[in-house]
Amino acid sequence: MSEPPRSPDVVWHEEGVPRAERWATSGLTGATVWLTGLSGSGKSTAASALTRVLVSRGVATYTLDGDNLRHGLNGDLGFSAADRTENVRRVAEVARLFADAGIVAVVPLISPYRAGREHARRLHDAAGLPFLEVFVDVPLEVCEARDPKGLYAKARAGDLPGFTGIDDPYEPPEHPDLVVAADRETPEAAAERIAAWVGSAVSAGG
Ligand code: ADX
Repeated sequence: MSEPPRSPDVVWHEEGVPRAERWATSGLTGATVWLTGLSGSGKSTAASALTRVLVSRGVATYTLDGDNLRHGLNGDLGFSAADRTENVRRVAEVARLFADAGIVAVVPLISPYRAGREHARRLHDAAGLPFLEVFVDVPLEVCEARDPKGLYAKARAGDLPGFTGIDDPYEPPEHPDLVVAADRETPEAAAERIAAWVGSAVSAGG
């Protein structure tokens, strides 16, 4: 992805209070946990379980769920390649802001294209914020058999063109930080593994 867009004639305003000082006073540490995978793979379920674990450990967290953001901030976007790219770009920007504020942003988003996820990582790297890419790796057949929203059936019937995994591509991560086999481990077990990873990344990078 090219340089992020910027309005004309604007100059970056340097924040007066450094991040470390902001985080120290509130005891917060920010990071982003990005959960990518097919529709129906269990990203949102894993995100809920992760939130439960983080909250039980006193970690401030907020979930930026793809379906929910498409009810507001991203409600103007569809599922063309350009719209998905813009969707991922916006969510990456919002996650970065949450992480900078000292919150662990949990992002269940199909985010089907490698370039978009790499852009999200670069954005966090440039800001010195931990970014964890978690691949929720569940085979298409399993997601399709589950079909919790009936969307795969609709797509197969030709009523939902451009559905990820059916007639729109999903590019699996080549080097995810963590792989969750949501069809072979419980959401709670996956959440514990992710939380442990978050803990070490945050203490190393925070
Ligand atoms: S992304 O591709 O832009 O990252 P996002 O995670 O925001 O997708 O939204 C995916 C959700 O939108 C799915 O969980 C599904 O419920 C719904 N959806 C509707 N149309 C499509 C489509 N063509 N492809 C994938 N998901 C779709």
